[in-house]
Amino acid sequence: MGCHCGRARRAARRIGNGRGPCRLLSPPAALGADARGGAATILGPMASPSKAYHLTTFGCQMNEHDSERMKGMLESLGYGEADSRDQAELILFNTCSIREKADNRLAGHLGEAKRLKSEDPDKVIGVGGCWSQSMKERVFEQFPFVDVAFGPGQVHRLAEFLTSDSITAQGYFEFEGFTGHLPMRRARDFQAWIQISVGCNCKCAYCIVPSTRGREVSRPAAELVAEARRLAADGVREVTLLGQNVNSYGRDLPSSAKASFAELLAMVDAVEGIDRIRYTSPHPKDMREDVIRAHAELESVCEHIHLPLQAGSSRVLKAMRRTYDRGRYMDRVAMIRDVLPDVALTTDIIVGFPGETEAEFCETLEVAEQVAYDSAFTFVFSPRRETTAAELADPVAHDVKRERMQRLVEVVQRRAAERSQRFVGRRMEVLVEGRSRNDPDRLRGRTRHNKTVNFTGPGEAGEMVWVDIESATSTTLAGHADAADEPAIPGRLVERQLT
Ligand code: SAH
Ligand code: SF4
Ligand code: F3S
Repeated sequence: MGCHCGRARRAARRIGNGRGPCRLLSPPAALGADARGGAATILGPMASPSKAYHLTTFGCQMNEHDSERMKGMLESLGYGEADSRDQAELILFNTCSIREKADNRLAGHLGEAKRLKSEDPDKVIGVGGCWSQSMKERVFEQFPFVDVAFGPGQVHRLAEFLTSDSITAQGYFEFEGFTGHLPMRRARDFQAWIQISVGCNCKCAYCIVPSTRGREVSRPAAELVAEARRLAADGVREVTLLGQNVNSYGRDLPSSAKASFAELLAMVDAVEGIDRIRYTSPHPKDMREDVIRAHAELESVCEHIHLPLQAGSSRVLKAMRRTYDRGRYMDRVAMIRDVLPDVALTTDIIVGFPGETEAEFCETLEVAEQVAYDSAFTFVFSPRRETTAAELADPVAHDVKRERMQRLVEVVQRRAAERSQRFVGRRMEVLVEGRSRNDPDRLRGRTRHNKTVNFTGPGEAGEMVWVDIESATSTTLAGHADAADEPAIPGRLVERQLT
């Protein structure tokens, strides 16, 4: 737990974060790396600084983070970012394949890249990420205009391709590990992701991720703490620990370097300057008491837990191979609510898994009703290549899925709106992210509970301010900050109830 003097120092840093991200390697050089995130090696000379790239990212935070690494790496090679594809010599896509919709969206974008390449054959088209991995060499058969394709673990191979003399199309699909050593270009100076593990050892019947991201491999805790320290020195105040199953972290590490996820949280919490720690995604089967207690005991660990339910029926959960049943899930929720009554709980739910009956779907509604999530991502089941669920008989009719989805969204939103009212009348610590999207006269930020707040009053992106919450909907809070108010001191220990 951070000490009191640490908190005072953090508060003193409130005004501005002053330090821009380190964007270029000095001297610029093409980077490669050993297989498991070891030291970077020089691959070749800097490419022409006049070249421009355009990168489109699809999918989850993992991909967003990989894209930050791609951008950092390209800029260290001398590329600049173009505003549109037609201005770029290098057109890149970091792809997702989690649901069919993701594939379809990509197809349209690739069509545009094909047209641009036919107008200017010197353009280089690159496709990275999970879709690319799941298609492997078929990418080149179906999309012959693609020059380079690579999976999520081979971001650094892009540099190798760009600095080589190769004129033939290349595919890189071996699992090789982390991008943690690559330069990074963050979207915001004060927030950062830290990838703590890659891959997933679960076998959820519907999910393509294990085949696109491989077996789970954890990064050593010492390396992660060093990264957190570097980020803090660079002005980062909030980190999100990333992994497909973050709370199974560390089990594969050698005994000399063993650390559990709860221990890792404590190590990052001790890093001076990191005021907020978030993580995504945990798996309910691994949500142990030590992790739940870390939220109560560690000052920087935020009051938000994402606990993916997927389905409320134990039979469906078994068919999904989730390895917990409704009872065990609800026990976890009870423990969380016991230790952390105020914590925000969010979830993922799939509607219309093959064979889901009306009665089974009603069990999902019951759980959503009972838990009263602060928000939920709801998905219609989508059959994915190389998953066992794609082969299951009795798919639920499209209309039925749609109708169930509407009923689920109604319950989730109603309960979230009700639960949100607990924030009204409270003065909450908000990390300012920028201007409100709908109203430029207001600011937008996030509470530790991960609720978006639109508010009036002073504040700059990257600052912590106190906001008096005046109203709440299912998704957002609204309020005002007072110019005369003292700076917000990070940590729930000092959150105050308004009288
Ligand atoms: N590793 C994370 C997230 C994986 S993908 C976890 O286990 O929580 C994010 C979400 O997409 C999943 O939680 C699931 O709800 C949804 N999802 C995955 N595959 C899907 C599919 N084939 N159809 C519909 N939703 C799916
Ligand atoms: Fe997919 Fe399941 Fe792994 Fe999440 S835990 S990534 S849903 S296989
Ligand atoms: Fe993420 Fe999509 Fe891959 S959700 S892990 S980018 S399939």
